[in-house]
Amino acid sequence: MNVVRKMLFTGLVMAVMTGTAFASGQQGSQDTGKGLIGVVMPTRSEERWIKDGNAVKEGLEKLGYKVNLQFSDDDIPTQTRQIDDMITGGVKALVIASIDGSALSNQLANAAAAKIPIIAYDRLLMQSPNVDYYVSFDNYKVGGQMGDILIRGLKLDQATTAKPVIIELFAGSPDDNNSVGFYQGAMDKLQPYFTKGVLRVPSGQIERTVIGTLRWDASEAQKRMENLLSAYYSGNVVLDGILSPYDPISLSTLEACKAVGYGTTPGKPLPIVGGQDCVIASCKSILAGEQYATVLKDTRSLGAATVTLVDTLMQGRTPNGLDTQSYNNGAKIVPSLLLDSVIVTKDNLISAVVDTGYHTAAELGL
Ligand code: BGC
Repeated sequence: MNVVRKMLFTGLVMAVMTGTAFASGQQGSQDTGKGLIGVVMPTRSEERWIKDGNAVKEGLEKLGYKVNLQFSDDDIPTQTRQIDDMITGGVKALVIASIDGSALSNQLANAAAAKIPIIAYDRLLMQSPNVDYYVSFDNYKVGGQMGDILIRGLKLDQATTAKPVIIELFAGSPDDNNSVGFYQGAMDKLQPYFTKGVLRVPSGQIERTVIGTLRWDASEAQKRMENLLSAYYSGNVVLDGILSPYDPISLSTLEACKAVGYGTTPGKPLPIVGGQDCVIASCKSILAGEQYATVLKDTRSLGAATVTLVDTLMQGRTPNGLDTQSYNNGAKIVPSLLLDSVIVTKDNLISAVVDTGYHTAAELGL
């Protein structure tokens, strides 16, 4: 994490802990009336978005706001309709985790015309001047952690050109701007090993546009993994690792490997695979020694930061201490609040995940 980001993060943690985030720079009249806030999450079919939605809702309700929380079933027309309804329903602010970051320009324009502040949640809203703030994790750093997981798990520092390490690459949804940060962060870490010739991708499929997984669909990734295994691994080439941007993709690509004997055939151990989101099934897999690692992005912190931001705006105050350089959405630089994330392996899973209450021991079957 660079110095600016570290300072921002430290400031945020202190602010969230003390409840004073963004307390300076007051402007305009004080509208302390508690209104209705619209919160839109992309889908209910992924664990994290349910946690995110609930964290934001509960936090805002504790402060006395009313909350209209909707999940969009990964369907863009559903999401646009939900936002239209929220605007006509009189929300005072919108918190939006988009499906396709570029598909909401009309809704954002209507919200801006109605003077409703818009917060892009986790995923940046693209190609629109009508985005006021972005609250997320440091996506480039998350990608770097995905790269670090492979460097560590595959012992890349000890690899030689005589026996290069073999991996395949998967990226997130092409319509989600986060995929760019994850990919770039990971590739910047892995590039030196490609350059040295100690890391290889037998399929040659390396560009983000080629390795993307629309809507983060784990079964689509599983099919692609099956195709790669039959096209490039039929001889005695053994896959050592997989770059995965998301836990369900980690698990489904591991399934594809198991189906052709990885993990049960001598000389074919399960590949090293990381992931992201710390989903329960992946935590169990990590504890069982299958998935190697994941990245924990604590939705509770993201929710708390968002609640503080909304409350600051609703009090007519101007947030300060934001990153005003990193996130250009194609129409403007969006002031951003970027949180920190943590690599989780078998070694720290209990302390990072269970002891902090992110998942209970019972949820992990312990
Ligand atoms: C989020 C990830 C999540 C992925 C799939 C991304 O935008 O940042 O945490 O795994 O979407 O839902």
